[in-house]
Amino acid sequence: MSQATNQSWGGRFSEPTDAFVERFTASVNFDQRLAPQDIQGSIAHATMLARVGVLTDDERDAIINGLSEIKGEIERGEFEWSVPLEDVHMNIEARLTDKIGITGKKLHTGRSRNDQVATDIRLFMRDAIDVIEAELVRLREGMIGLADREAETIMPGFTHLQTAQPVTFGHHLLAWQEMMARDHERLLDCRRRVNVMPLGAAALAGTTYPIDRHVTAELLGFERPAENSLDAVSDRDFAIEFTSFASILLMHLSRMSEELVLWTSAQFDFIDLPDRFCTGSSIMPQKKNPDVPELVRGKTGRIYGHLMSLLTLMKSQPLAYNKDNQEDKEPLFDAVDTVRDCLKAFADMVPAIEPKKASMFEAARKGFSTATDLADYLVRKGVAFRDAHEIVGQSVAYGLKAEKDLSEMTLDELKQFSATIEQDVFEVLTLEGSVAARNHIGGTAPDQVRAAAQRARDALAAIKGEAQ
Ligand code: ARG
Repeated sequence: MSQATNQSWGGRFSEPTDAFVERFTASVNFDQRLAPQDIQGSIAHATMLARVGVLTDDERDAIINGLSEIKGEIERGEFEWSVPLEDVHMNIEARLTDKIGITGKKLHTGRSRNDQVATDIRLFMRDAIDVIEAELVRLREGMIGLADREAETIMPGFTHLQTAQPVTFGHHLLAWQEMMARDHERLLDCRRRVNVMPLGAAALAGTTYPIDRHVTAELLGFERPAENSLDAVSDRDFAIEFTSFASILLMHLSRMSEELVLWTSAQFDFIDLPDRFCTGSSIMPQKKNPDVPELVRGKTGRIYGHLMSLLTLMKSQPLAYNKDNQEDKEPLFDAVDTVRDCLKAFADMVPAIEPKKASMFEAARKGFSTATDLADYLVRKGVAFRDAHEIVGQSVAYGLKAEKDLSEMTLDELKQFSATIEQDVFEVLTLEGSVAARNHIGGTAPDQVRAAAQRARDALAAIKGEAQ
């Protein structure tokens, strides 16, 4: 082997790599994050090779001991990463050969960096998904708990951001929870397709050694070996699926963030966020800014960006492996870190939301939010819905002029618009009456909210950690 060229593939080269090209093509500065998975995969590979007789048991043991020591060196920060060695795989293999000599060079038998890196990323993603799932479960539990506690708290419900009808705060929180429940399903669905093993595909066509891919898959906890070697080393659709999940999740978190930001403003004044989730202003002493939700809203953009990066990275790649795929790691790593941190922020923050009940109630009382209830009342008394709509419209117009909500008018004032209106109208014009009347599955009545919270708890218990 030529001394002047890269040691792992230098045989056919007659001059060393250009210094810039070496730096340009190297990935070790970011893919060293895959070291734990790389070692885990190599140990399983060596174990399988010994099982089928390609390595002796002594060779296997030397490799496994060497790799375990290297793992310790990396964890203690003692490992010296080398850019000329290009990536995490060749760094670890070179160190193994340093330590145990010629046996270290046998580890790569029946394997290529192409199936090795695809396996490492899948192992990494599986671990990441499990950490993310735990935060998502914590967030869902927090939402359900708060919804149950606030089942009777009344706030205005909005369409077009205009006061529409009164709802309960618990009902609003359970709407958020439904979004998270669907994201949870998408995450677990993604995990099923991540958990398939490329190892054994070798460079692209498989290998001539008598490998047993079922053994390696079982050792690594994969559901099964990938069906086709060309596909196994080339496609990164599982990474695209993860960033799709992440994009939808962040879109949801961004919507919730927007509401939290609005609600903490003096104009809405619906909730307080504890000081630990907010920061002040260096110039305006009165300010308390909802930085955490604002940042989550802002981070949505970078997640969408990672999805676009990966989709574009993959398009037009001919089978099988291409170096383009080295570009999958940075977006994916950042997506994993961002999703985990945003979920952690929300899981910590949501149970700490302090609703300002009087202020929410007052806002619901002000916006003629029981107008639909008055129309429904008239319909129950035999008025056609379109006529009832017209009568209530006139009452609201009068209320705007007189600066009175419907429930603040006297019976005589209301009777100007319809003689059908009697004393019992005031039962439906109260906010409590209005929400309690929407008493069917999916409705905002406090009893329904409590029942829905219980169903959500049961559904979460059934799905939680299903993958592990
Ligand atoms: N660093 C490469 C990657 O991330 C590893 C595979 C390289 N394989 C190759 N034949 N150049 O994709």
